[in-house]
Amino acid sequence: MKSRKIVDGVEFLGTADWNRRLFDSLIPLPDGTSYNAYLVRGKDKTALIDTADPDQWEVLKAQLDDVERLDYIVSQHAEQDHSGSIPFVLEKYPGAKVVTNPKCRDMLIDLLQLPEEVFLTVADGETLDLGGKTLEFLYTPWVHWPETMSTWLPEDRILFSCDFFGSHLATSDLYVTNPAATLEAAKRYYAEIMMPFRQPIRRNLDKVLARDIGMIAPSHGPVYDQPQFILDAYRDWASDAVKNEVVLPYVSMHGSTQKMAHALLDALVARGVKVHLFDLVVTDIGKLAMSLVDAATLVLGTSTVHVGPHPAAHYAAHLANAIRPKVRYASIIGSYGWSTKVVEQVAALIPNLKVELLDPVICRGDPRAETYLQLEALADAIADRHTRL
Ligand code: FEO
Repeated sequence: MKSRKIVDGVEFLGTADWNRRLFDSLIPLPDGTSYNAYLVRGKDKTALIDTADPDQWEVLKAQLDDVERLDYIVSQHAEQDHSGSIPFVLEKYPGAKVVTNPKCRDMLIDLLQLPEEVFLTVADGETLDLGGKTLEFLYTPWVHWPETMSTWLPEDRILFSCDFFGSHLATSDLYVTNPAATLEAAKRYYAEIMMPFRQPIRRNLDKVLARDIGMIAPSHGPVYDQPQFILDAYRDWASDAVKNEVVLPYVSMHGSTQKMAHALLDALVARGVKVHLFDLVVTDIGKLAMSLVDAATLVLGTSTVHVGPHPAAHYAAHLANAIRPKVRYASIIGSYGWSTKVVEQVAALIPNLKVELLDPVICRGDPRAETYLQLEALADAIADRHTRL
């Protein structure tokens, strides 16, 4: 795709990665992704904000064809999906300076082996005058890494937010045309990489909202020309409020744990609780992460393999611990053959979750009448806790 004008002097240089299906060798990308760079032309100087994944350099390079001179490459975030083409851009424009903060500079030196002399470092709130276009740099740590910053262009009321408010969407749309689809992709994105940082996100929201934002130009996904819905969504996701929902991922080897998971599902639904059920053998972990954004309770179902949790349940517990959802309650259900330590072992895997552990339901072999009564009691306990939310 060619570069596209947003306003006079500001262009979108999008590189859509239509076929990418995994990010960080971990995160599923059902809709691909994009790496957005932006060109800001002042009367005196020209700046490129972020670059692209190095795999997409040829696409970005073609969009820079008519740019004879580049003075600055603003690097808002050191992760290679945005910084990885900086060495190529510097090769094309040897006089350009990489503008970033000291923490990001150090990371770029480590990650890309850039020489120290190419950098121009900026403090939080510092500005760079391009001639009728001013770039103000706002440190916004932990959206996504500690060095991440945003850039505010006051003349056009555009916030270049890098990963903040981003969505993994490969699209030919410059602007959001389907808010519901963008919200779904942005929530998936938030769940997978932003959720551990809810406190910094709230501070960063307050910081950027001190500006009268007209547009948000993230480095993934379409531009928000009417950004209120994504700002409202981030406020909600990063808040402490939880919903009357249970996330119930399970893995079952011979069907017993599956029977228990479905019995608990039925018992919860009968009590008016919404349930997100996932068979871990087939589930998309992005969907699982998304369901954890709002839910009040996590119940993990696992068979026992050699005394401990099934590896798929181990992985899910580890993942939930890493992304730190705001769940308040947790429990464990499952079946075993001759001996089990799944409760202790799973509980030890989720120290980051500040939860009340509700009585687990563990049975030997096939669930019996007594097991189903215990599952009903667990559903009672969950429904009761949820009425206090
Ligand atoms: Fe899109 Fe954290 O990089």
